[in-house]
Amino acid sequence: MELIQRPRRLRGSEVLRKMVRETRIDKASLIYPLFVKEGTGIEEEIPSMEGQYRYSVDRLPYELERLSEAGVGSVMLFGIPDHKDEKGSGAYAEDGIVQKALREAKKRFPDLYYITDVCMCEYTSHGHCGVLCDHDVDNDETLPFLAQTALSHVQAGADMVAPSDMMDGRVRAIRDCLDSHGFQNTPIMSYAVKYASAFYGPFRDAAGSAPSFGDRKSYQMDFHNRREGLKEALTDVQEGADIIMVKPALSYLDIVSEVSKAVHVPVAAYSVSGEYAMVKAAAKMGWIDEEKIICEMAVGTYRAGAQIYLTYFAKEIARFMEEGRIG
Ligand code: PBG
Repeated sequence: MELIQRPRRLRGSEVLRKMVRETRIDKASLIYPLFVKEGTGIEEEIPSMEGQYRYSVDRLPYELERLSEAGVGSVMLFGIPDHKDEKGSGAYAEDGIVQKALREAKKRFPDLYYITDVCMCEYTSHGHCGVLCDHDVDNDETLPFLAQTALSHVQAGADMVAPSDMMDGRVRAIRDCLDSHGFQNTPIMSYAVKYASAFYGPFRDAAGSAPSFGDRKSYQMDFHNRREGLKEALTDVQEGADIIMVKPALSYLDIVSEVSKAVHVPVAAYSVSGEYAMVKAAAKMGWIDEEKIICEMAVGTYRAGAQIYLTYFAKEIARFMEEGRIG
């Protein structure tokens, strides 16, 4: 055969395959989502997310230690309060669960990087991501609450805030509020392109944050839309977002790809709870090779254009990188 093009030439050995790799990833780009809850001595496994736990503040340092040993340097904190009310006051309380966790964590592990999820759904009695007016979330009324929440996180030690509520104008409201309190240098990672997704199901079990009526479709995006995702991303950059997130990851890699071409800020992708749960369940049945699937999902996300990867598998991925299985 007189073949000129033989792509297999570059696949002949492990050394060569690694030499020509197009996607290289690093532990420094991993962020691990972590649930903290009121109480003491709590380290309870989340039933729909085997291997993931809710920690009380006193037990949190054990997990932070494991992360730091694994080489995962950044966490995203989610709070599970004891008390919920109409206005989600636990979200911005000085002694709120995230605020307490931050103070403790910063004291014990000052070198880790702390990002907080800024939203109201875990704190409102109705489970929606903002305050209500009749039966819908009131966008503009919600903004000061989000800004207040972000500020209280930063005052408690958050290094970065990540609004996930999908209200219009929230990045601007948070930026203004942080700036006017002297926190000009605290970055905002916006969950800019966040779809109304069934992939969040296990998270809502974990955080007890399912809406008590209706759904989130009036604020989270319709998954049929791609161009609208670009609009959300560009709007948030204009409002001052430093990092743009796409969420979920697995079924949205086209969006990751397009957003990463459209914006000139780093793009993060969040492999959410449902993605984690599917892998865990199928692996438990013996139907897939868990480790290989984790690697493929991770690399696929970076290959699509993400520079930052939020994943419940962060520790495992860090280990696979260490072992040279991906990287
Ligand atoms: C809060 C929030 C959610 C997730 C991250 N921040 C839930 C939701 O929007 O219902 C989902 C994360 C996951 O599923 O892992 N608004």
